[in-house]
Amino acid sequence: MCGIVAYVGPKKASEILLKGIKTLEYRGYDSVGIATLAGNIISVKKDIGKVDEANATLNFLALEGNIGIAHTRWSTHGGVTKENAHPHLDCSGKIAVVHNGIVDNHQQIRAGLGSHRFLSQTDTEVIPHLIEELMSKEGLDFVAAVRKAANTLNGRSAFVAISSETRQMAAARKGTPLIIGLHETSNEEFFIASDVTAFLDYTNKVMYLDDNEMAVVDVKIDGKIAFSSLTSGNELKKRVVDIHWHVGSTEKEGYDHFLIKEVMEQKHTIAAAINQDDTKILAVANDIKSAFGTFFVGCGTAGKTCMVAEYLFSKIARKHINSVVASEFSNYKHYLTPKTLMIAVSQSGETADVLEAIDVAKSKSVRVVSLLNVFGSTMMRASDDFFMVNAGAERAVVSTKATTAQIAVLTLLAYATAGKLQEGKLLLMNAASAVNDMLNPRYEEHISKLAFLLLNKKDIFIIGRGINYPIALEAAIKLQETCYTHAQGFAAGELKHGPLALIDEGTPCIAIVANDETKQDMINNATEVKARGGYIIGIAPENNEVFDYWLKVPDVGDASPIVNIIPVQILAYHIAVMRGYNPDYPRNLAKSVTVK
Ligand code: F6R
Repeated sequence: MCGIVAYVGPKKASEILLKGIKTLEYRGYDSVGIATLAGNIISVKKDIGKVDEANATLNFLALEGNIGIAHTRWSTHGGVTKENAHPHLDCSGKIAVVHNGIVDNHQQIRAGLGSHRFLSQTDTEVIPHLIEELMSKEGLDFVAAVRKAANTLNGRSAFVAISSETRQMAAARKGTPLIIGLHETSNEEFFIASDVTAFLDYTNKVMYLDDNEMAVVDVKIDGKIAFSSLTSGNELKKRVVDIHWHVGSTEKEGYDHFLIKEVMEQKHTIAAAINQDDTKILAVANDIKSAFGTFFVGCGTAGKTCMVAEYLFSKIARKHINSVVASEFSNYKHYLTPKTLMIAVSQSGETADVLEAIDVAKSKSVRVVSLLNVFGSTMMRASDDFFMVNAGAERAVVSTKATTAQIAVLTLLAYATAGKLQEGKLLLMNAASAVNDMLNPRYEEHISKLAFLLLNKKDIFIIGRGINYPIALEAAIKLQETCYTHAQGFAAGELKHGPLALIDEGTPCIAIVANDETKQDMINNATEVKARGGYIIGIAPENNEVFDYWLKVPDVGDASPIVNIIPVQILAYHIAVMRGYNPDYPRNLAKSVTVK
């Protein structure tokens, strides 16, 4: 959460920073700010709102200078106010800081900086003041003060600071990502960002900052960059990596919102997801077969795809694997041994809870394989091996195409574990082409009519069984985060053990009825809901008399979780738009959840 971009080079910094911060807006969109250094003056412009909204009043491009830092905020400490927006300054206005993460001990630090004048309620603001204090009271130079300040902070975070006095930029990483971009040829241009997409238009040469490391760009000596350990201060040599990652388009391309564009891109992304290296799939399948316990770990939607995997592995590979929500994984540490395998699933590859779960796994010598959608992410580098799910940049906060891509790769793995990789590929290729046919304007229109019918409904229930039970849970997440509706998913068989009491005249209940061994039980459960006045929306390959509204999906066998979530993605989108919400930026959320 929160996006950082920084620039040092020959170009006008505000132009690069504005473009970069817009790209990182998915990481938080409460407020935005840019600080640039021109001559020896730091100028700051910041305000609440999204990048375009703030820019319309502030005109960020009026900021001069070739050095600057920018930030888009997802608030943790302090409300959404202009004062709490980053960058933050020290008392003298000579040090500016942008920060991502949480300073757990900010209260203690602030208490020790009694004479300083604080203007915000943020944890971040202690950083520039602490640097200032260390420079004035202990006589440290800027770089030493940044190092000492970084070492004083507790919690997962990263920050970039600039000094107008020394014309240096220093970046420190302690748990949240910072990546350095270098000019292809000259050593006078540097980018620093939370995510490479912020500067991939300018360069694909990068250097990764690891935890407990810092980088200093010194403008006085021709833009030299130096890396060092935060703890020892020793100089570090860093490898330059060429990123050849096709991010896909990050524009809306004629669609009103990223969300619907990304839903429609599923015409191609399922096929891209299954375009994997067979040798690697088979090797990981073998790891799963020989592991003494395999845990599939993720958060939110990715957590639901892990649950789909648990059912798929049981059904297809007759193999017991465990799906665990990442924030709960440490409670399983007593089961972990060097023979355990962890499959970590994450779109961003930056989710703090998953990274912590990986740390726990690593502390027990567990092998970690990740399923990711962002190349170069922290999780990619923290894992022993990884698969890219190839969905291309997902800009809407709400995950759609990455979800179905994850399910496709997990299905492939289940088939490979069963010794039926080719069968799995055929099944998924058929599903990919069925999704291509399904996503047409008539289909969307049919779903938008249902959205209209559900517009004023306060509760929506979703039921599923077997491999589609986690899809009922995932469908609920889609409706919650886009339409702010109380939506709840259940294992269909559980309804009569309590939740059936909530069904009232006209209560919408989406029944996911796959053409598999769960079909008859699902129809029975839907009938029980209807008998209590429920309005049944069937997601199924065939119509049934119990359905009040039918959302047809292709019959794709055990790839049904892929096709069954898509109509709900479209439904959630249309309800949100009809209610006047921006489906790309759900309130209170951010795409990359880098805090616990
Ligand atoms: C829901 C959604 C979130 C993410 C979750 C994990 O649409 O996007 O629930 O799935 O925050 O994020 P990643 O996959 O980046 O680890």
